[in-house]
Amino acid sequence: MEYKIAILGGDGIGPEVTAEAVKVLQAIGKRFGHTFSFRQGLVGGVAIDNTGSALPPETLRIARESDSVLFGAVGGPRWDDPKAPTRPEDGLLAIRKQLQLFANLRPVKVRPLLAGASPLKPDLLEGVDLVVVRELTGGLYFGRPKRRWQTSRGRRAVDTLSYKEDEIARVLRVGFELARGRRKRLASVDKANVLASSRLWREIATELSRDYPDVELRHLLVDTCAMQLVQRPRDFDVIVTENMFGDILTDEAAVLAGSMGMLPSASLGTRQGDKPGGGRFGLYEPIHGSAPDIAGKEIANPLAAILSAAMLLRLSLGLEREAAAVETSVDTVLADGYRTPDIASPGMKQVGTQEMGRLVVERTRP
Ligand code: IPM
Ligand code: MG
Repeated sequence: MEYKIAILGGDGIGPEVTAEAVKVLQAIGKRFGHTFSFRQGLVGGVAIDNTGSALPPETLRIARESDSVLFGAVGGPRWDDPKAPTRPEDGLLAIRKQLQLFANLRPVKVRPLLAGASPLKPDLLEGVDLVVVRELTGGLYFGRPKRRWQTSRGRRAVDTLSYKEDEIARVLRVGFELARGRRKRLASVDKANVLASSRLWREIATELSRDYPDVELRHLLVDTCAMQLVQRPRDFDVIVTENMFGDILTDEAAVLAGSMGMLPSASLGTRQGDKPGGGRFGLYEPIHGSAPDIAGKEIANPLAAILSAAMLLRLSLGLEREAAAVETSVDTVLADGYRTPDIASPGMKQVGTQEMGRLVVERTRP
């Protein structure tokens, strides 16, 4: 069977880590008898440089014509001018919005092998296995008005946190469904003691919970959640929350896993895949950014990108065995003692980006 995958590497380490994920997909295709056809598109700063737009129409078309999208990262100091008409990040936000990818799944699983890479105490990390469902196409990122202007008494800027009922309900349902297939505990995270949008969020979560009597729902304020994530992370199963709360909490949660370089993500919408056994169309990306400081140095950890490819296989293409094979290969490489610098510890074998990719590829072979 042929699967079409759009490859949008972006900026900084984005193309470096994505290239390793592509190699892993090719190896998986060979082993399991699938053809993955890849089409590259420009996005982010590199797209601005080449076309003037952070998400050129051609890129959007390639993404739409594919079964799923593998995304690297965007941004960098070159495009940081506050007066610039567009920013690399606009490309990422636009593709999420245009493809209606409203649910961003960010699993945080602590691998005992990497417990030493986290600054937190190992006993605190034991058994941590949670998923954050971040609302991705609304909230503070997209609300209007959003602008900056000059007043007679100085500069002023506004962002807006706004949600419609159906936007909240559909992402909450993703959280409930996911929890139902796991340990059946859902934490709905908001700031209902201050924000009107959060009070609506909480109300809808409570209403929906009647459809999921088997799932235990608790409401948690975002500041409390931030504290509990490092105090007793084991208590969390599924967390569902507003766009920016989710952005912040997942960087924090990455500390549990030892490195940002380990965390994959899936952004899903309503569009179904059209392959037999296929899941939902989605965009898959590491949760880390373009890390311009280490770009081109061959030291970036490609595992978040590779694990994102595993999520792509599972959730968009319905290829569970293939996804599991990738994840097992990653675990084996780590068990064999190979580490990129971000997860290095004494006595381990330090490797670069491409070598890490090659080691994973090698282990996908039967
Ligand atoms: C993320 C990133 C992005 C976001 C940036 C690059 C726009 O931080 O995916 O978490 O804020 O959503
Ligand atoms: Mg982020």
